[in-house]
Amino acid sequence: MVGFSAMNLALGRGKLYLRHVRIIKAKMKVKTQSKKVNKAWLNDHVNDPYVILAKREGYRARAAYKLKEIDEAFQLIKPGHVVVDLGSSPGAWSQYVRRKLSPKTAVGGGAAVGELNGSIIAIDLLPMEPIEGVVFFQGDFCEQGMLDKLATELGGRLADVVVSDMAPNLSGIHSADAARVEGLVELAVDFCQSHLKPQGALVVKLFHGGAYDPLVKLFKQSFHTVKPMKPKASRDKSTETFLVGLGLKSVAKTQQ
Ligand SMILES: C[S@@+](CC[C@H](N)C(=O)[O-])C[C@H]1O[C@@H](n2cnc3c(N)ncnc32)[C@H](O)[C@@H]1O
Repeated sequence: MVGFSAMNLALGRGKLYLRHVRIIKAKMKVKTQSKKVNKAWLNDHVNDPYVILAKREGYRARAAYKLKEIDEAFQLIKPGHVVVDLGSSPGAWSQYVRRKLSPKTAVGGGAAVGELNGSIIAIDLLPMEPIEGVVFFQGDFCEQGMLDKLATELGGRLADVVVSDMAPNLSGIHSADAARVEGLVELAVDFCQSHLKPQGALVVKLFHGGAYDPLVKLFKQSFHTVKPMKPKASRDKSTETFLVGLGLKSVAKTQQ
């Protein structure tokens, strides 16, 4: 009897051991797969022509080329302009704008330092390494206190261009994420209604899906001309896209 139950116990342990091995193997498999995905992402990233170009040209992120393409298509940013950069960290868009507002005599037709012909005001939740001449506020664009700081910095001036690359941390819950994106774009449009020149422009990032149609509608209600644009620098796999609004339908509340 004792021998039989000992054998049963050993068999039971054996089964348990086999189950354990299977679980570990399954876990290892998942780990290997995710490593493969990370490797593929890293490979894509390292070989990405815009990543290579950003490194060569001293931009903090490949995102600079998205704004560059949009700007070149619509001729938005010109020397002397007041530009507001919403969701600016790590700073590639501000760097691009800074170069556009620098004298054309500087190396490369614009400079990262030195004379700046115009103003750049930037805001982000995250810190941003300083860029010479760029006034940066760290905080939430959704908070009234931050809106007040931006207004104070503008000092009654109206912006020529407002650009927003703001993207919320995605939760993966589609409806919640769509609502967050929608909220940020609505706030950017609202900001323009108080602080953008009548002939000014707003560029926003948004995503295909949930909030896209209502946001196009909002843009059409707010701007004379509305152009969607997916720059080549925006990855095909990404649902991100951009809307450009030109010329406010209602005149900004702040007086020049
Ligand atoms: C894609 S990144 C911007 C990249 C930037 N345009 C560049 O060229 O370096 C999006 C940024 O939006 C910021 N953001 C998201 N929600 C925000 C909010 N409510 N207020 C301020 N910034 C926000 C994030 O912190 C993040 O840094």
